[in-house]
Amino acid sequence: MRAIRRYPDAEAVSRAAAQDLVEVARAAIATRGRFCVALSGGSTPRRMYEILAEAPRWARLEWDRVEFFWGDERAVPPDHPESNYGAASALLSKLAIAPERVHRILGELPDAEEAGVRYQAELARVFAAPVDGLPPIFDLVLLGMGPDGHTASLFPYSQALTERRRWVVGHHVARLGKARITMTPPILNRAAEVRLLVTGADKAGVLREALLGAREPERLPVQLVAPEAGRLVWMLDRAAAAELPADRPV
Ligand code: 6PG
Repeated sequence: MRAIRRYPDAEAVSRAAAQDLVEVARAAIATRGRFCVALSGGSTPRRMYEILAEAPRWARLEWDRVEFFWGDERAVPPDHPESNYGAASALLSKLAIAPERVHRILGELPDAEEAGVRYQAELARVFAAPVDGLPPIFDLVLLGMGPDGHTASLFPYSQALTERRRWVVGHHVARLGKARITMTPPILNRAAEVRLLVTGADKAGVLREALLGAREPERLPVQLVAPEAGRLVWMLDRAAAAELPADRPV
């Protein structure tokens, strides 16, 4: 199932996404006793993380029932400015999240493939799932979209796009000239809830192609995000949605 929510600007997207996360978390904790969320990297969610860091003032939530994961990571140490874990660390410390409930991808490992294998083992441990079985089901996966249509670290024409068995892979991304570690379509599409946050005019064209254009997931990896039984909600600001028809659902 796919839905599109439009907001006036990036701030409104961030506020709505923070509120939405709290609501999804509350429901997951009420029904399953905990909330497992995979955070996104990049710049878009940073304001959302700032808002969530203040959540104890406005959100009734048992933060000690929340397990934090990442959908992807750069091949850097956790204190590196490019670290996706690092981008959320202020949030985690403000919420006083216990270290055992923070499951970061070991971007510092010299071998990204090994980091992928280790992360899959960590997922299997936390979800008590067989490491070579079906991917575990996240309560919520947060994703962004790059101006080239990538999501997580699933970049155009990269080998990770065709992965159908492993949940996490470390791979060299030719167009970046760097290694990345990323969740793969099989695990992303097992999630109960997926939120794709896209803001900014620079993404309007590729967003239109991704949503309305031909299906070309090799060129537009974000098109691979299609939860099997879960719900995908695109959260867009007006600038990013500028090339979408305003008068009909897409
Ligand atoms: C990353 C993210 C990546 C990001 C998009 C959008 O590690 O960078 O996982 O997929 O979500 O590149 O990035 P911005 O939010 O900075 O536009």
